[in-house]
Amino acid sequence: MSGGLSSIDSIAVRRAYARWAPMYDLVFGSLVDFGRRQAVDHINARHGRVLEVGVGTGVSLPHYRRDLKISAIDLSPEMLARARARIAKHGLENIEEVAEMDASDLAFEAGRFDVVVAMYVLTVVPDPGRVMAELERVCAPGGEVIIISHFAQDEGLRGWAERKLAPLSAALGWRPDFSRDNVMTRSGLRLVEERRMKPFGLFTMLRFVREVEWAEASPPGEERRVHKRREAAPGRGYNGATLSDPAAG
Ligand SMILES: C[S@@+](CC[C@H](N)C(=O)[O-])C[C@H]1O[C@@H](n2cnc3c(N)ncnc32)[C@H](O)[C@@H]1O
Repeated sequence: MSGGLSSIDSIAVRRAYARWAPMYDLVFGSLVDFGRRQAVDHINARHGRVLEVGVGTGVSLPHYRRDLKISAIDLSPEMLARARARIAKHGLENIEEVAEMDASDLAFEAGRFDVVVAMYVLTVVPDPGRVMAELERVCAPGGEVIIISHFAQDEGLRGWAERKLAPLSAALGWRPDFSRDNVMTRSGLRLVEERRMKPFGLFTMLRFVREVEWAEASPPGEERRVHKRREAAPGRGYNGATLSDPAAG
């Protein structure tokens, strides 16, 4: 472990997903599809440009509304090859770009996307703090960052099993002991929804709005004050989040 995170690096991730690629859809295609569909349904009610980070084999891609302009990136060439085959098979003309790229160093200008989504990716990346910073950067002010992830549980049998599995992170290609704190790192991202997901509440969807900042005109000699515009707050739960658990169990 280092800095509270079990060790994993880009080479281990690429190696793990080169192995996973041929059987990924069989194992994870439908197992975690509930979460994907929830996120995509939400995104389909929005407009503009969407970035899917860690798109994998592109299971979600056929489900986006066809007038949304989608860019998709992943670190693994083997996973991306399958995503490209899926795009060709379904004739998905709204997928503007599919690129091999590291989520912690995105080659997009700031504020390019209206929605940035990362599904089942944050437990996998070597540096989740840097990835969160990049998701925030490329999201337009007022846009949304959506994360679906497994978060570790401290107590109970599940917590025990997660801690036991943690040393195998590099071989598994993800961190069973991944803490929610690892994604709650950006002051510019305001949590607006937290939703537990099937199966068994093992996964959680976090929805953030990218804060819009503006500076107040200040008298000469006084420090400039920067404000964050808040949208109508639901007024419930952590950081104004709407907490719901429709899918757990
Ligand atoms: C568990 S899979 C999820 C794939 C897809 N989002 C889904 O819903 O099926 C995790 C994906 O994240 C990718 N990944 C891991 N680290 C990454 C990084 N630093 N940058 C981009 N993609 C990364 C892996 O290659 C893999 O395709």
